[in-house]
Amino acid sequence: MRLLLSGKAKCNSHGQDSPYFHGWQEYEKNPYDQTWNPKGIIQMGLAENHALVQFMAEIRGNKVSFDPSKIVLTAGATSANETIIFCLAEAGDAILIPTPYYPGFDRDLKWRTGADIVPIHCASSNGFKITACALQQAYQEAQNRNLKVKGVLITNPSNPLGTTMTRAELDLLMEFIVEKQIHLVSDEIYSGTVFSSPNYTSTMEVLSKYEKAEVWDSVHVVYSLSKDFGLPGFRVGAIYSNNDWVIATATKMSSFGLVSSQTQYFLSSLLSDKKFTKNFISENKKRLKKQHALLVSGLWNAGISCLESNAGLFCWVDMRHLLSSNTFEAEMELWQKIVYDVKLNISPGSSCHCSEPGWFRMCFACMTEEALEVAIRRIKACVESVSGGRDKVLSRQRCTNMNSGKKSFSSWVFRVPIHDREAGMVLRGPDPNYRRSHHDQVEAT
Ligand SMILES: Cc1ncc(COP(=O)(O)O)c(C=O)c1O
Repeated sequence: MRLLLSGKAKCNSHGQDSPYFHGWQEYEKNPYDQTWNPKGIIQMGLAENHALVQFMAEIRGNKVSFDPSKIVLTAGATSANETIIFCLAEAGDAILIPTPYYPGFDRDLKWRTGADIVPIHCASSNGFKITACALQQAYQEAQNRNLKVKGVLITNPSNPLGTTMTRAELDLLMEFIVEKQIHLVSDEIYSGTVFSSPNYTSTMEVLSKYEKAEVWDSVHVVYSLSKDFGLPGFRVGAIYSNNDWVIATATKMSSFGLVSSQTQYFLSSLLSDKKFTKNFISENKKRLKKQHALLVSGLWNAGISCLESNAGLFCWVDMRHLLSSNTFEAEMELWQKIVYDVKLNISPGSSCHCSEPGWFRMCFACMTEEALEVAIRRIKACVESVSGGRDKVLSRQRCTNMNSGKKSFSSWVFRVPIHDREAGMVLRGPDPNYRRSHHDQVEAT
């Protein structure tokens, strides 16, 4: 797969060919250990790859293992994503990304590398799942623009959808990259946040059945401790790859975004404390699940549904019925009202390149329960003022009180545009176990 790499990855102008760097390489081959290699080379620095790869395996239920020699530490996932694109692509090349996607990719993947992003348009009609048709269309669009497609980049679990990819989607992606002989980059920065079923399937798990195939060295994982550990300020990320060229090039590039020795030292003790990490991740998931249920239930009471989700720190919220027209102008109009009048900072779907107006991303993780309730009260007031929908909301609430959870949810589903219902779109009402108490709580205030 060397031919598919970028010019930078293939050229030798980094200056790595010096004794200064050779010493480091010799150390990698023959590291000192008091017990098993007492004559080895002693490293006077730190590289805490071991603890990180073990942690990455743990949050994937130890279904996959990671080799510490195939990981490169970077200053967060921002740097990891840019570095991997520097390794694979340059001006004239394209990376395909399913929409909606994390707005930071426009900066991280394109700006300094010169590569382009071509969207894989995903639609609400199937819950924003990737389809063979959407992949093919994006590939074709890149070709029409005279761009050479170098790979697909996914975020699993997704930011902004808060969903995990299905095994079927991952299999489809593997087939696609094998057929087109391109790379797959999987940004798995939210892999430790999966708080509900279905369980998380990582790309590495799917890749394990391709060990002898060429695609083995075309799949690369990006990770960071910014989300799973809430440590964005520490700037700790990583690229994991079976591709020696990618690892060698990313290692050279990591000079520009190193993780300090002090940070590595701290992380080494943090990640080695298995009991602590296990408890932390499990407690974090519990709290995310609770906060997610509060938001979904509160929005539902305000007449707003969310895409059904099971991971991440946010909900993908459907406010299409509040738009004055089915346009991105109307979406911006509503967004401005929400930011400036309602005073809630949420992200419009257009900033995530969503193809349909009316979707918004709401984060629920970095706020107290009290702040979340204030936010929900404000949203409810906004809905009533925007849609004149007080009657609609009240009649639906009456319906909630009178009926069982299931029945009242289906009455809400009837408000979904007919084409979405027919296509089996999954919209999220509140967790039935949660609804009553929270509903009472909201009503009491
Ligand atoms: C999908 C995704 N990738 C990368 C990043 C950047 O992470 P970091 O803080 O580790 O640079 C974010 C941050 O929100 C993200 O959501």
